[in-house]
Amino acid sequence: MNDTLRVTVGTGYPVIVASDIWRELPAAMHEVGLRGRVHIIADAQMAVPAQALVESFGEGTSLLLIPGGEGSKDMHTLMRIYDHLLAHRVERRDIVVAFGGGVIGDVAGYAAATVLRGVALVQMPTTLLAMVDSAVGGKTGINHALGKNMIGAFHQPRLVYADVSLLKTLPQRELAAGWAEAIKHGVIRDAQLFADLAGADPTTAFFDPALVRRAVAVKVDVVNIDVYEQAERMLLNYGHTVGHAIEQLLGYGVLLHGEAIAIGMHIEARIAAALQLCAPALVDLQTSVLERYHLPTQLPSQISARQLMDVMQRDKKVLAGQIRWALPASIGHAVITRDVPLDLVERVLTSN
Ligand SMILES: NC(=O)c1ccc[n+]([C@@H]2O[C@H](COP(=O)([O-])OP(=O)(O)OC[C@H]3O[C@@H](n4cnc5c(N)ncnc54)[C@H](O)[C@@H]3O)[C@@H](O)[C@H]2O)c1
Ligand SMILES: [Zn+2]
Repeated sequence: MNDTLRVTVGTGYPVIVASDIWRELPAAMHEVGLRGRVHIIADAQMAVPAQALVESFGEGTSLLLIPGGEGSKDMHTLMRIYDHLLAHRVERRDIVVAFGGGVIGDVAGYAAATVLRGVALVQMPTTLLAMVDSAVGGKTGINHALGKNMIGAFHQPRLVYADVSLLKTLPQRELAAGWAEAIKHGVIRDAQLFADLAGADPTTAFFDPALVRRAVAVKVDVVNIDVYEQAERMLLNYGHTVGHAIEQLLGYGVLLHGEAIAIGMHIEARIAAALQLCAPALVDLQTSVLERYHLPTQLPSQISARQLMDVMQRDKKVLAGQIRWALPASIGHAVITRDVPLDLVERVLTSN
């Protein structure tokens, strides 16, 4: 099928990106050999389609609704999911369907990874961010008071099933945040995707399954090359060294993740230009596309260069005291480098 990508890790799994397919989930699961009882853990925003799916799966299917948002990625929600699954007598051959944004995918995915030492998982992402990023790759987990994503496991899904028609209710800001990761995928690995995004109408582009699929394909490719994030997968961190530091300094929830990453991409592209790794024109081109999708590019005024430098040096991507940067060399091609003098970073941050 031409709407299907494939992750080849382990026994492998299909990643389907299409429009108006959510009702066909039972058949798609059957096709990949998933035959057990189904437990749908759904974002409360998805209550109506989730209930319809329960009816089509029939007898023995269970449903638990969870509010979306970062606050749900915690021990309390995880415990609610365990309580639900165990009360419904989950068995080893059963399947957990994570039906929602990245938050539901991460927490329900972690529950699937750990309940009864692991049951099958289907990711059915309903935000653009979850489609182009979190649903593929098998990272699951929750937050801890001492840090985001501090507890988790790799648990590859058996199927990723993305229906872009479900995005029509997604708030505009959430949609834009998802586009930030898609634009990032274009910059690091796919010049044609970047050009397509630059030419698309940002108000309707999400409805184009081919465009969304192309953005998902970059994540699929990178995961296929490097499942445990040793090398290539680091490229996905473009914009994230600075972006994570911004999120941490502002406090989570002030900016959406994708918004912080857009600012991070802008600053990191300027670092690449200052290193003469890329042409200065790349920065302008990227800015025009980010702005087209209503994404910010300027560092919030309450954050100083010094604060940002301090936080970045404590990031988990720092190896032996040196920051590992994913930086663009040209549109469609990024590299990993440690050779970025701190004074150059500081100069970029203060020059604006
Ligand atoms: N596992 C990974 O590899 C990975 C990668 C990137 C991000 N993440 C995680 O993903 C999370 C962010 O995901 P997110 O941005 O999807 O956030 P989210 O899951 O909180 O969803 C954002 C908001 O949209 C709502 N929503 C979801 N689908 C909707 C729809 N179709 N219509 C209307 N509203 C809808 C949710 O209820 C929520 O309020 C973060 O916790 C991040 O750490 C994980
Ligand atoms: Zn991200």
